[in-house]
Amino acid sequence: MFQGKALTLIKQADGIAELVFDLQGESVNKFNLLAVSELDQILSLLEQSEDIKGLLVTSAKEVFIVGADIMEFGAVFSAGPGQITGHLANNNRNNCRLEDLPFPTVVAINGIALGGGLEFCLACDYRVASTAASKIGLPETKLGIIPGWGGTVRLPRIAGLDTAVEWISGGKENTAEQALAARVVDAVVEPVKLREAALFMLTQAIAGKFDYKARREQKKAPLKLNFIESMMAFETSKAFVGGQAGRNYPAPVSAIKAMQKAADKSRDEALQIEAEHFAKMASTPVAQSLVGIFVNEQLLGKKAKSWEKKADKKIERAAVLGAGIMGGGIAYQSALKGTAIKMKDIAQAGIDLGLSEANKLLSKRVERKKISASEMGDVLNRIEPTLVYDGFNNVDIVVEAVVENPKVKRSVLAEVETKVNPDTVIASNTSTISITYLAEALARPENFCGMHFFNPVHMMPLVEVIRGKKTSDNAIARTVAYANAMGKKPIVVNDCPGFLVNRVLFPYLAGFALLVRDGVDYQRIDKIMETWGWPMGPAYLLDVVGIDTAVHAEKVMAEGFPDRMKRDFTSCTDALYAAGRLGQKNSKGFYNYELDKKGKPAKIPSAEALELLKPHVTGALEISDEDIISRMMVPMATELARCLEEGIVETAAEADMALVYGTGFPPFRGGVFRWIDSIGAKTFCDIAAKFSHLSALYEQPASLKAKAANNESFYSSAQAVTAKEQK
Ligand SMILES: NC(=O)c1ccc[n+]([C@@H]2O[C@H](COP(=O)([O-])OP(=O)(O)OC[C@H]3O[C@@H](n4cnc5c(N)ncnc54)[C@H](O)[C@@H]3O)[C@@H](O)[C@H]2O)c1
Repeated sequence: MFQGKALTLIKQADGIAELVFDLQGESVNKFNLLAVSELDQILSLLEQSEDIKGLLVTSAKEVFIVGADIMEFGAVFSAGPGQITGHLANNNRNNCRLEDLPFPTVVAINGIALGGGLEFCLACDYRVASTAASKIGLPETKLGIIPGWGGTVRLPRIAGLDTAVEWISGGKENTAEQALAARVVDAVVEPVKLREAALFMLTQAIAGKFDYKARREQKKAPLKLNFIESMMAFETSKAFVGGQAGRNYPAPVSAIKAMQKAADKSRDEALQIEAEHFAKMASTPVAQSLVGIFVNEQLLGKKAKSWEKKADKKIERAAVLGAGIMGGGIAYQSALKGTAIKMKDIAQAGIDLGLSEANKLLSKRVERKKISASEMGDVLNRIEPTLVYDGFNNVDIVVEAVVENPKVKRSVLAEVETKVNPDTVIASNTSTISITYLAEALARPENFCGMHFFNPVHMMPLVEVIRGKKTSDNAIARTVAYANAMGKKPIVVNDCPGFLVNRVLFPYLAGFALLVRDGVDYQRIDKIMETWGWPMGPAYLLDVVGIDTAVHAEKVMAEGFPDRMKRDFTSCTDALYAAGRLGQKNSKGFYNYELDKKGKPAKIPSAEALELLKPHVTGALEISDEDIISRMMVPMATELARCLEEGIVETAAEADMALVYGTGFPPFRGGVFRWIDSIGAKTFCDIAAKFSHLSALYEQPASLKAKAANNESFYSSAQAVTAKEQK
């Protein structure tokens, strides 16, 4: 009946029409402008047809519909609330027409049904899901927006208010079974039985055995709620959700407000209220940032996959040298995600520690019912502890994670090279030592690169894959493939002191040291930077990293970039280090630490630390919160711009994501470059100039000055790269 590029309408037996989603040239179905317009045409055909008795909706791909095409959001969102509501209206009209067809409709959800994909399903009369549909939900609030195609209207009317609040404000993805328990779908069957079950339901509805009209009435009427109870439920959930999301993420509460305001309204009025709330959220900088992050993630994923394709072989077996904090974490993560790994140390005590850490993490997963006890056994069996090199000639990659000492590392690397196959890739998890320098100890430097994990390995998504002067493409490709297999987010960068993340983190911490020297209370700085969005302030972060580790890295950075990183004063970290206050690891740094009820270190102010730093404070600076933020952020942003200029990182998108994944840079700001874009390169340079008398940390590189002079932003050029990548 209709053959389009996204949708097809086929007439089947017994007056049943089948609408098939299959977006050409894409691996997934999504509601882009094309699909929306074809749905519009199909609905006209269905409305005019006189012999159709029922509609079955299916997908010809492995997924059902992943949602609206987020790549189309940027342009729409920046066009203002009027354009946004117009964009929503087209598909809202479609969903209402689908809901109002003069015959029953059943959708067979065979795979992912998220966002606009699920909203389409909610407009159908009956929903049958396959057990393979493991991602069903409304994740819009994670993008800083709310559902805009009827999600806040239909979900509470179908599944009840509690489910709607939980699903929409949390944005969680649910399995088919969870969706059934929540009454979001009507039945769940094995994948092979999906079509048959959906057709059965449709024929029953056509035969009048199911009252599909009553269902429609319920979706189109106001919510049936007791007024006082419902007001209490709305007020409580707004307070709870608002507390959890925090003031920087307004969308979850906005979704609840939309549902509250529309509770006593009919469908069409409720949709209008939803559209107004959507437009308000979509116009916020938070939504632009979070959508920007989504787009960047797509770019990263594509790059990682394309590296993986270039690898000469799949990583079947791995090895890690050193079973300490990092080696143990790497072994755990590798085994958890299915790659067998040898874990070698020189000391049995090291191995015992690595294994007990893995045991602890796995036991927690069993407690939380994420894995079964027998799966825990399988994971542990994939870790092979050893004190010798037996079997190293069978591994595809070795990750070196021994102590941070160039001499030790060079000798360990040279030794392991004689134990492995000529094609085995060797990667170092060093945080500070030059990859090109370490490679000098090797006979096959082309097979060597950096693989820099972040602590704790199982929690931190980023892995920097570092290319030394002689590193081959294949070494990078295998290492990226291994990081992908471990469920991590690899970003390929070029070798330099600090690589990418530490190279820009330490200038930020240098800005902090200058503030403390000038007499600003570090507890105040922590509070201000946390309010700005960082998960922890700089003093707290230094305590978590370890003051000794920080002092060591500061030295490396000072040697690498003496013009801006060398100090002529005793910094706060130097003073704490000299007094043996190493941070959380010995319970005293900028703060003191005591274990709380859950056994986690809780920070408490330390009069001793404050006293200790007093002799090194040389001023009594009165400074605004805003200037504190500038003095902290300008050195970081400036260094990141230098990294992009020097080609240490290839795109602004990767640079921003490295900081979000590697340091917890606040996602609602979209990244450092997006933050510069939000204030404008010229304003940024003007702010930096105010502080240039303090240190070369505040002097702007040529690329930033040019952006300021030409009124350019990072993201127009970064998105051009995105477009190029996608071709
Ligand atoms: N801890 C962090 O936060 C962090 C973060 C990123 C990278 N790194 C880097 O990871 C590496 C390891 O750091 P860590 O914190 O796990 O150290 P760690 O001291 O906890 O562990 C080092 C382990 O290496 C073992 N070892 C020493 N020489 C060895 C050899 N010749 N062969 C095999 N094992 C040997 C030691 O017995 C010890 O178990 C360092 O290069 C460090 O810079 C650390």
